Amino acid sequence: MTHDSAGNAAAEDSSRHAHGHQPVLLASVIDLTAPKRGGCVIDATAGRGGHASALAAAVDPGVVILLDRDAGNLQHALERTRTAAPHSRIEGVHADFRSVATVADRLGVRADILIADLGVSSNQIDTPDRGFSFHDDGPLDMRLDRSLPVTAADLVRDLSESDIASLIATLGEDPFSRAIARKIAQSRITQPITTTAHLARLVREAYGSRARFSRLHPATRTFMALRIAVNDELRALEELLGSITSAAEARGAGWLSDEARVAVISFHSLEDRQVKRSFAALVDAALAHRLTRRPEVASDTEVAANPRARSAKLRAIALGTRKSLP
Ligand SMILES: C[S@@+](CC[C@H](N)C(=O)[O-])C[C@H]1O[C@@H](n2cnc3c(N)ncnc32)[C@H](O)[C@@H]1O
Repeated sequence: MTHDSAGNAAAEDSSRHAHGHQPVLLASVIDLTAPKRGGCVIDATAGRGGHASALAAAVDPGVVILLDRDAGNLQHALERTRTAAPHSRIEGVHADFRSVATVADRLGVRADILIADLGVSSNQIDTPDRGFSFHDDGPLDMRLDRSLPVTAADLVRDLSESDIASLIATLGEDPFSRAIARKIAQSRITQPITTTAHLARLVREAYGSRARFSRLHPATRTFMALRIAVNDELRALEELLGSITSAAEARGAGWLSDEARVAVISFHSLEDRQVKRSFAALVDAALAHRLTRRPEVASDTEVAANPRARSAKLRAIALGTRKSLP
């Protein structure tokens, strides 16, 4: 691998085939975060190392800290990033990004770049055993960190019908949430719902003939809602954004350097709203300026090559008070 530019590194080494996941909006992330040699990068969601390895190649020799809740992904990202930046200090921490400030303090680093690419990686979805996919049968699990105590099957078994309905309505934004919850509640009386195929079948039945009018597989929103709930994803993001705010308020004395660049990629409207609000508050308080006027989205070409990029939204800010984009 060459280390002349992040672009070269990315082009050589970003295939889904090789790593189980294709990084979304990679060129925009590099452009907006403007990595410099000797810089310090924290990737809060290392995944398969697509963004991390490209950023690492650009800062080499620098410092790159990787976090992930999924120990397998973290290990893969670590190896890939070490190959991309052989002269850098690279460390991996199996942790939720809620604790990013503590991790940075413990390692004695202050980040010039923070990237968070939320949600799940393609290899996680494509592994039936993880329970994220309604296309293949597997245990109804959905935990990003397999040491977490509660699985999706536990939620489907233990929540009341009305709690299931409101979870699918709020986190999945599914218009048929009540019909789906009713179906689940009726079905679990006679047979526990412990597999992805079983749940997907129940959701399809709840949709009935309406499934014909759905662009997405009927189970898409239910599965997304359960995944977000199992992993407490919205609260984790809230805490990450809170840590970014605290660092901005510390004006360079916290875990982000005084002109640090922060890029967040989200795939869900609720997440994007959280990011938008939090970044706007920092800009209003003159603690940061906007690097993206509107969220950046994937081009048609990128979506054709990588359909999961379709719903990606990238927002970025830089700490400090240069003039924001309007
Ligand atoms: C979309 S993937 C990241 C892909 C990565 N940017 C790449 O290019 O390969 C999201 C990753 O974030 C991890 N993740 C999700 N929520 C997390 C959290 N709260 N803390 C740490 N990691 C998290 C997931 O386990 C997954 O590996």
